[in-house]
Amino acid sequence: MEEFFGSDHYIIANGKVSESCPSNIALIKYWGKYENQIPANPSISYTLSQCKTNTEIEFLAEKTFSVQTFLAGKEEKKFAEKIEKYFKNIEQYLPWILKGKYIIKTENTFPHSSGIASSASGFGAIAKCLMDLDDQFTGKSDEEYKLKKASFLARLGSGSACRSLYDGLVVWGETKEVANSSDLFAVLYPNNEIHSIFKNFNDWVLLIHEGEKSVSSTVGHGLMNTNPYAERRFQEAHENFALLKNILKSGDMKSFIQLVEHEALTLHAMMMMSEPAFILMKTGTLAVINKIWEFRKETNLPLFFTLDAGANVHLLFPSNKEEDQIQSFIIKELVQHTQNNGFVKDVMRF
Ligand code: DP6
Repeated sequence: MEEFFGSDHYIIANGKVSESCPSNIALIKYWGKYENQIPANPSISYTLSQCKTNTEIEFLAEKTFSVQTFLAGKEEKKFAEKIEKYFKNIEQYLPWILKGKYIIKTENTFPHSSGIASSASGFGAIAKCLMDLDDQFTGKSDEEYKLKKASFLARLGSGSACRSLYDGLVVWGETKEVANSSDLFAVLYPNNEIHSIFKNFNDWVLLIHEGEKSVSSTVGHGLMNTNPYAERRFQEAHENFALLKNILKSGDMKSFIQLVEHEALTLHAMMMMSEPAFILMKTGTLAVINKIWEFRKETNLPLFFTLDAGANVHLLFPSNKEEDQIQSFIIKELVQHTQNNGFVKDVMRF
């Protein structure tokens, strides 16, 4: 942890920085956490490429600390309060951070109401901007350290955000299966341990339900504290890492599909087992899942799903000669279950 403490030797000045950060979709899910954003189990995600947040931060060196935020051009006071709290929380890592005024302008490349996780790309972009300012005020740090600290800082804003700092398959949370993995920041899953079949993947997100979720992720994580199945779930995530490691190496698509869908359903099963229980899937979510299973039975084609903490369905399928047939099926049979014919086409970054 000491390596992230900030130095008291800094010279602040007015400055403007901008950064872009993509969203990510977890294959093994983070669901449950301890104090200071320590995950209850390790997780791994694919970083997306189209769903991104672009953020510009203008810093004015002033005596009083204040934050003003604009989301897609519109002032958002609630978001500013959240960021103020976040900046106060990370002062020990960036000792200059409360010494001025911030004007933060941020926009997502995906529809705001889509329910696609904007906290991951959002905090990822902010953390990158903060490290750019830190470079200006304290002297340039090397790129590797800068990314690592940005991941560390992003985690303190939103857990899953720490994984968005790297492209490809990214791990957060200590597991014996991945060297150098940590609860404090994300690391890249070794590229030479991934079969080529998993390096060219599509993620089409069906926007089943647009708008606010009934229960936020943060509340959902909290409900794992009293969930009687939590310990077994955390243990299973570790076991799934061991399985996934072999799958990724061997290119076993069938087992990959089974594991990824199981993780998604387990996440939602945990919600149903919480006290109070909650359900984020909608009728459309279930209709799509059933149609995917039927399609796979009939065609044997590798179309499968994962879910985040919401009703939307992430449709995963490799980019290869079979993708045309899968895409036609999605458009003909699955898009009808979305709220406004809405879907976002994304691909994984490597
Ligand atoms: C289901 O990272 O949004 O998407 O740390 O409270 O901000 P906070 O939660 P968040 O939780 C993400 C949960 C998930 C699974 C995952 O991305 O691993």
